[in-house]
Amino acid sequence: MRRIAEMVVVITGASAGIGRQLAIDLHARGARLALAARRAQKLDALNHELGGGHLVVEADVSRPADCARLISAARERYGRIDTLIANAGYGFPATVCESTPQQVEQIFRTNVFGSIDCARAAVGVMRGQSARDGLRGQIMMVSSGAARRGLPFFGVYSATKAAQLSLTEAMRIELEGEAIAVTSVHPIGTETDFFTVAEALGVTKIQSNMRRSWRQPVGRVTRAMVRAIARPRREVWTSQTTRVGLAVNALFPSIGDAVMRKQKREIDALNASGN
Ligand SMILES: NC(=O)c1ccc[n+]([C@@H]2O[C@H](COP(=O)([O-])OP(=O)(O)OC[C@H]3O[C@@H](n4cnc5c(N)ncnc54)[C@H](OP(=O)(O)O)[C@@H]3O)[C@@H](O)[C@H]2O)c1
Repeated sequence: MRRIAEMVVVITGASAGIGRQLAIDLHARGARLALAARRAQKLDALNHELGGGHLVVEADVSRPADCARLISAARERYGRIDTLIANAGYGFPATVCESTPQQVEQIFRTNVFGSIDCARAAVGVMRGQSARDGLRGQIMMVSSGAARRGLPFFGVYSATKAAQLSLTEAMRIELEGEAIAVTSVHPIGTETDFFTVAEALGVTKIQSNMRRSWRQPVGRVTRAMVRAIARPRREVWTSQTTRVGLAVNALFPSIGDAVMRKQKREIDALNASGN
């Protein structure tokens, strides 16, 4: 069991949603935080709300230099990094063939390259530090349930989340001999700014009242993440029903296709109705 009090945690995408709530939860348990995102004002406001004692770093994870600067700043401030939460990310609604090369490149730069660049730099720091409560460090990647099944209108996004899962699976074995744990997190639809941000980036509507009602509260996701920081595990799933459904999909993709066909029909109807 790792003590969260005094633990140094770097969180990308801390200005909103899952990252912001995780910062609040970890602060309540006495962690020392490095909060990163592009909107520095939101980070400053969060830090102020938490008493002002945390490090704020304005960083765009799609830029490798920003990832390196974030990790160096955290090490300089705290002397070590116990957990990196590679959480910064977004999606946009478009069919695969309607996604432009620029959209595809930018989302991979943020969700995938940004995760790798932050993880590479953080592992460099972790390798040089002594173990604390049995571990030198932990890399936690916020992937998605979509890592295991491509979603219609979110095919490119799903591909970035599958890439994050592949990376964590490989890193977990590559780093276990060095006492660095690697965890992937797989939320399902969660009540954050994610869907509003996504809709603003595309022309397809994705939010109906019914679809909103399926979302999980953000605290449910962050509580599970806090537990997996204290006691690192391989994967964090916040919906066991989804997890079982994805196992069925892996064995019988035709069943997964039937569920996804229904989702596509709902989104088509939402866009046809103009609501
Ligand atoms: N909400 C869901 O239903 C859901 C489900 C599964 C997985 N997830 C994953 O959970 C993670 C967090 O999403 P969320 O739901 O909390 O959405 P959110 O409320 O929109 O928050 C996204 C965060 O990522 C940051 N971000 C985006 N692009 C960035 C960039 N280039 N550089 C640095 N920070 C960046 C945003 O900060 P700035 O805009 O200030 O940079 C913001 O803090 C994402 O990786 C998402 O894929 C979400």
